[in-house]
Amino acid sequence: MSLTIDGHRIDVLFSESRIRARINELAGDIAARKPHRLLVVPVLKGSFIFAADLIRAMHHAGLSPEVDFMILASYREGTRSSGKVDVLRDIESLVKDRDVLLVDDILESGRTLAFAKDLLSARGARNVMSCVLLNKPGHLAANIGADFAGFDCPDLFVVGYGMDMAHQFRELPFVGHVVK
Ligand code: IMP
Ligand code: MG
Repeated sequence: MSLTIDGHRIDVLFSESRIRARINELAGDIAARKPHRLLVVPVLKGSFIFAADLIRAMHHAGLSPEVDFMILASYREGTRSSGKVDVLRDIESLVKDRDVLLVDDILESGRTLAFAKDLLSARGARNVMSCVLLNKPGHLAANIGADFAGFDCPDLFVVGYGMDMAHQFRELPFVGHVVK
């Protein structure tokens, strides 16, 4: 299926209903690990819709996590990661002896998540896990895979469900690819 928004044609890659079903499975997988004093840390901005749906699914899976937010800027050359990561907003919560679940939209080079994982591990977190909606294969630079991943994503620039292209398309309830 495809639709046209502001003159851009967008092909749907992952529909609302597919995403919803997969998130329920992810929440079950996370609950099965029996996390200890779980703190969920969405890495903003791109993860905000995924995280909102995931933490509600976590409630239904029997978890009661705390939530705090981190804003990271991973500098990009065009649509590819350059490797430099800055903390624009840090979490306020203490992570010592807690299990932390980082939530991000896409794992591409892995540099963003590797950076966040190192930061929270250095503060004494018991275990830092990660959950991403999409795994984009073939670009992994940092030595990190996600502990939980929703879908393997084709090597295309994707938007929607929180993800943007030049600040547009975050509101789409599905994940799509901008064809033109
Ligand atoms: P990494 O540090 O290379 O793993 O970059 C991951 C980050 O790049 C994600 O959290 C997204 O913010 C961004 N990103 C990578 N690919 C895409 C895409 O196709 N659409 C939108 N954002 C993307
Ligand atoms: Mg991001």
